[in-house]
Amino acid sequence: MNEDASDRVIEMRGVTTRFGSNLVHDGIDLDVGRGQILCLVGGSGSGKTTLLREIVGLLAPERGTVRLFGHPVLDPDTRVQRDVRRRFGMLFQQGALFSALNVFDNIAFPLRELRLVDENVIHDLVLIKLAMVELEPRHAPLMPAELSGGMIKRVALARALSLEPELLVLDEPTAGLDPDLADNFVQLIGALQRQLGFTVAMVTHDLDTLAGLATRVAVLAERRIIANCSPADVLDVDHPFVRSFFCSEHARAAMRATRRT
Ligand SMILES: Nc1ncnc2c1ncn2[C@@H]1O[C@H](COP(=O)(O)OP(=O)(O)O)[C@@H](O)[C@H]1O
Ligand SMILES: [Mg+2]
Repeated sequence: MNEDASDRVIEMRGVTTRFGSNLVHDGIDLDVGRGQILCLVGGSGSGKTTLLREIVGLLAPERGTVRLFGHPVLDPDTRVQRDVRRRFGMLFQQGALFSALNVFDNIAFPLRELRLVDENVIHDLVLIKLAMVELEPRHAPLMPAELSGGMIKRVALARALSLEPELLVLDEPTAGLDPDLADNFVQLIGALQRQLGFTVAMVTHDLDTLAGLATRVAVLAERRIIANCSPADVLDVDHPFVRSFFCSEHARAAMRATRRT
């Protein structure tokens, strides 16, 4: 595919991040093209979550630029910023749901914030989103405290999808789930992505997620993106983190099996 600028959903250039004396990113360049599922891997504390926070504009880097859909995510024009924000959804580890709102109101929240559609339409849209994540109308009045871990993730995913985003940003979406539930959740994300065609940027250290979903793998190490390649090619990256991360034969076989030509 011939990638012009309009195919680039995420474009990071020279992103440098520092917390006090802690230099976390030192000139990060990263492009994610439309329809890609990019999995970001890296050691604990390497700055993966921080990078996602910069992608969605929750944190401004010290230096460098982040553009989504060709616009700066922190555009000084608040209208541009708002328009950009409408075009992505996110699911972060912390604060997955508003604990004081029931399932329905959690999913309706981004729709109500927009003030573009009336409550009848919101009602229908929320039920459609619930069905998309394989939950039922009877789950709508439940409070987050009444939900299992797997259901919380599904509701959070439904909320992230409520504005029909072109980009979904996920931070370790399967963390804390049992392997079976994690598998289900990964399959659900994959099925929705195939159906709706959105772009995904996600952090994961789950090899099955990587092997099952990723079209690209980016490796964050030594404060930079040291590799950005196909899942099969990442095995050839000569770096200690990559070697130890994909060291098991199971991991190598799973990544090789992704070679789809
Ligand atoms: N708000 C913050 N204030 C100060 N230091 C932070 C903040 N957020 C992250 N850090 C530091 O930045 C580094 C990267 O953190 P993080 O992005 O959470 O790593 P990862 O998600 O890869 O485990 C860590 O050293 C962490 O302590
Ligand atoms: Mg993290």
